[in-house]
Amino acid sequence: MDFSTKYLGFDLPSPFIAGAGPLSDNTDSAKRLEDEGASALVMRSLFEEQIEEEALATHAATESHAESHGEALSYFARHHEFVIGPDEYLERVRQLKEAVDIPVVGSLNGYTTGGWLSYANSIEQAGADAIELNVYYVASDPNETAALIEENTVAMVQDVKKSIGIPLAVKLSPFYTSMANLSKRLVDAGADGLVLFNRYFELDIDVDELEMTSELRLSSPGELLLRLRWLAIVSSACSASLGVTGGVHTSLDAIKAVMAGADIVQVVSAVLMGGPGRLKTLESEMLEWMTEKEYESLAQMKGSMDADHCPDPDVLFRGNYMSLLQTY
Ligand SMILES: Cc1cc2nc3c(=O)[nH]c(=O)nc-3n(C[C@H](O)[C@H](O)[C@H](O)COP(=O)(O)O)c2cc1C
Repeated sequence: MDFSTKYLGFDLPSPFIAGAGPLSDNTDSAKRLEDEGASALVMRSLFEEQIEEEALATHAATESHAESHGEALSYFARHHEFVIGPDEYLERVRQLKEAVDIPVVGSLNGYTTGGWLSYANSIEQAGADAIELNVYYVASDPNETAALIEENTVAMVQDVKKSIGIPLAVKLSPFYTSMANLSKRLVDAGADGLVLFNRYFELDIDVDELEMTSELRLSSPGELLLRLRWLAIVSSACSASLGVTGGVHTSLDAIKAVMAGADIVQVVSAVLMGGPGRLKTLESEMLEWMTEKEYESLAQMKGSMDADHCPDPDVLFRGNYMSLLQTY
């Protein structure tokens, strides 16, 4: 069985990748992930706010009128809780590159264009094999149009692409209006790959304390379904590498994602729940299933259920919605 895949130009022996999360930026757990079959790993993100904070702090320290930045600095102070700071991040990239033989993908997480994006170049200089840009934005300004937000995302990709020579993947949220069009524009702007989808952490209300609350919950398999539809659509709309993140817990989840068009499958929650050994189980179960169904390669399966290849593409669109409602 040829289980290999190509992602961002890398020839990988397996589609399973350790997605951005706590296990990917510690050398011991990264080695463990590699031993258990991760064919690449994405580091936890460095956030725009962290980079901006450091730049501001450096500026304040070198300027005599430091107090003029006082207000901004106190705003940023709450960001000190980040696990790794910008300099430490670069050191971590170097350590990971020494520790593992698989590609190491550095991750930047933000929402504006600007100087902070040049950090992608620093991550490249530290030895990262690729960058994943996670665009996480809560569009709440009533005067900001969807077109403007999309243009901003495209401009971010252009900015990063200009500053690096390594491949760039863009991790997107599902909340863009015209995903197929945006995907194509991001690829035209230089994205070598797209990763669907960022997971937004939901808010809740504590009605007794009258507080908004939020809690980090690991994913569940149901979250994959949104991704399957859009993988299937984006897979036929653009030529870039495609990755899935969100809701892959079993080998069947991974199989579905590949059928929908994913070149790689990122796993985080399942590994946090079951330990790095979960990756080996996913791989062996997937191989067993493919052998049983007489697949000869992953390539044969890839995209076989995307919008260009599935037997009834209408189910991906409005037709399915109308007919489903009649069945109840
Ligand atoms: C504890 C934790 C930390 C995470 N940190 C990051 C991060 O730094 N950057 C990022 O892009 N995604 C981060 N994620 C999101 C994951 O990379 C992934 O997209 C998400 O968990 C969905 O995949 P899953 O269903 O396999 O968990 C994190 C997820 C968890 C659970």
